Amino acid sequence: MKSDNSLFNKSIAHDSGAKHVSGLAKYTDDISEPLNTLYGAIGWSRNAHAKIKRVDLDAVKNSEGVLTVVTHSDIPGRNDVGPVFDGDPIFPKDKVEYYGQPLFAVAATTIELARKAVLKAKVFYQDLKPIVTIDDALKRNSLLFKPRIIKKGNPNQKIEKSKNKIKGNFTTGSQEHFYLEGQVAFVIPKEDNNYTVYSSTQHPSETQQIIAKMLNQKSNSIDVLVRRIGGGFGGKETNFMTSAICALLSHKTKKPIKLRLDRDDDIIITGKRHDFYSDYEVGFDDDGCINGLKLKLASRCGMSPDLSLAINERALLHIDNAYCLTDLEIKNYLCKTNTASSTAFRGFGGNQGMMAIENIIDNISRHLNKDPSEVRKRNFYGKKSRNITYYGMKINDNVINEIFEDLKIKSNYKKRYSEIKKFNQRNKFKKKGIAITPVKFGISFTTIHLNQAGALVHVYTDGSIHMNHGGIEMGQGTHTKIAQLVANSFGLPYEKVQISSTNTSKVPNTSASAASSTTDLNGAATLNAVSKIKSNLNKFIKKKYKIFSKIEPLYKNGNIYVGNRIFNFEEIIKQAYLNRISLSSSGFYSTPKINFNKKTFKGRPFYYFCYGAAVTEVTIDTFTGESVLDRVDILHDVGNAINPALEHGQIEGGFVQGQGWLTMEEVVWDKSGKIKTYSPSTYKIPAINDIPKKFNVEIFKKGLNVEKVVNKAKTTGEPPLMLAMSVFFAIKDAIASTANYKKSPIIDAPATPEKILLSINKLKNII
Ligand code: MTE
Ligand code: HPA
Ligand code: MOS
Repeated sequence: MKSDNSLFNKSIAHDSGAKHVSGLAKYTDDISEPLNTLYGAIGWSRNAHAKIKRVDLDAVKNSEGVLTVVTHSDIPGRNDVGPVFDGDPIFPKDKVEYYGQPLFAVAATTIELARKAVLKAKVFYQDLKPIVTIDDALKRNSLLFKPRIIKKGNPNQKIEKSKNKIKGNFTTGSQEHFYLEGQVAFVIPKEDNNYTVYSSTQHPSETQQIIAKMLNQKSNSIDVLVRRIGGGFGGKETNFMTSAICALLSHKTKKPIKLRLDRDDDIIITGKRHDFYSDYEVGFDDDGCINGLKLKLASRCGMSPDLSLAINERALLHIDNAYCLTDLEIKNYLCKTNTASSTAFRGFGGNQGMMAIENIIDNISRHLNKDPSEVRKRNFYGKKSRNITYYGMKINDNVINEIFEDLKIKSNYKKRYSEIKKFNQRNKFKKKGIAITPVKFGISFTTIHLNQAGALVHVYTDGSIHMNHGGIEMGQGTHTKIAQLVANSFGLPYEKVQISSTNTSKVPNTSASAASSTTDLNGAATLNAVSKIKSNLNKFIKKKYKIFSKIEPLYKNGNIYVGNRIFNFEEIIKQAYLNRISLSSSGFYSTPKINFNKKTFKGRPFYYFCYGAAVTEVTIDTFTGESVLDRVDILHDVGNAINPALEHGQIEGGFVQGQGWLTMEEVVWDKSGKIKTYSPSTYKIPAINDIPKKFNVEIFKKGLNVEKVVNKAKTTGEPPLMLAMSVFFAIKDAIASTANYKKSPIIDAPATPEKILLSINKLKNII
């Protein structure tokens, strides 16, 4: 159906931007509480692996202000919050499996009294040996699933016959989500054991189901509402513990309960990014073109499956990044460890897979003494040939070659590459490095059935619009973009569209807002609802005004144009109402064309790919190991953006979050499995002074989604995080200069100052 295009490609401010900065945006903890509200706190395990001998909660129960204590025996239904598989007990009965595992919870008259009370528990453990590291788990065969082996072609033979071969191993670290708004839920009991749940979650429908199952009730007795969340980054895709415990406390007390974790508890209790270990053998020709690759890929999954299977799958599906690999074998190990269950984090395993291959390519380049950008280019997928992935998907939207070349020119890469070598000859202690890396990231949930969405749109009799869809606003701007799509489709000003909370009673059975697909899926579902209302209006207008032509009405500037007739939108809405025409509709969308056989690892798991590239220049201080980002140039494909300003924000934010992952954010567990980095004093995320000194972000102007995605746009949710790979390899390049580029530095991610110094020392054979 025709409509105005005035709102497409328009940089409207985020609908809550002013409210975010003025503090007026309401988050879960800002909702006014009824007078009888109680406050929760969670008591958790101080042991990473132990049998529970006895739990003495007398002092907790008698603590000031405490009204109730809940344990596993208070759970009427399912004692598990695992999203796909069991394994995440709300409160374990006999055994603790990680330091920080919830054991019980209290409700008290104030949050302070609740938090004080839980510290008074006496828990008696019988220690078991904890498995903490990937190495430990591999040695002791502690795996969540059987190892998976994926083989294509004949890598052994290809490596054997290659003129050049190298072996090595590489690790990328974990990462704490550090969303500004932590895990929080607020549950209000209603009549007949029904509950209204406000929760900071990316997944209201699963929150609803998990609570219903826990309470042994039907899903229709639980409503979950989310106006916005203060960042999720994957950390709220599952992690249903907080809302489940909050609902359990409300169920027992019949009172409204608010449960907000303090920052330390949040970091200690909830899961983080999977760290990955890889071990490789690669054969290549004199140009650096990869002939065959054998890879072992192992990840620390923590104590339960959670989403680890899908995350490892995405890692495998991104082991190629932008490179055509024909002969490869990957053995994938999902390590079970006594740490909090590792979970979704922006990139969802894709970035970990991509780092493994990027490190291999970097080492190949250094082995051949070639500019890594040349070796990268040699291995790229082609447009007409070399365009089938190892899992059998034909790539029909490849723009990596153009982006890479454009960016090299725009950023003056070549000249700077040689200038940096000269700089390093002149400077003894400060060393510079530069790197350009590509990104190709697949869009769609690899679990095919999740690629669906619903919406609900109402037009009120004054012509104003109310929209609901299944997507969660987590700062990325999905509501703003979808409101733009709706306003545009009705030909109305953006202000006419009301954004409201995501609500399981309005739009049911939603998927998590994740996989960067929120706007693609929910935007299309919302437009489907709009088109149904427009179809009702079109029929009404034609009938009432006796227009017999087949002409499509055009919605523009608050009017509806049918041929040479003009109707005012508001006027038509009033008339339609009086003539008993429906002005409300639900909408639905499911992604076409995708299929993936998880057993054979073949198919088309992705509707489309996002592409981008980044050049980073760093300076490292060889005395302190500190690194500074002198300049970053990014060229990123966003297709035909709905809102370029929001995409810019996602690109910058994603890059800096990736920079944090690869340079300074380091999660440390001690030998006993206790997490040591659970507050901002020990865990560093990038601050304003860490961002690149020069930060040139450009949108790829020729970008257009070849598939029928809303507005022909491409998502910017996760892909920009991976642009930060260039930071790591620029640092590696700077380290290489300390040995005159003669050897390949050995360094794992994150490249913290300590690791940089150790790597330099290793290179100089000091240690
Ligand atoms: N941006 C902000 N501001 N806050 C977030 O929590 N999450 C990221 C990304 N960008 C996130 C964000 C992750 S992990 C995903 S999957 C996508 O946003 C989800 O939103 P989208 O599907 O609308 O891109
Ligand atoms: N991305 C994010 N979340 C998911 C996915 C995915 O590919 N699959 C299942 N949950
Ligand atoms: Mo994003 S990790 O898919 O929530």
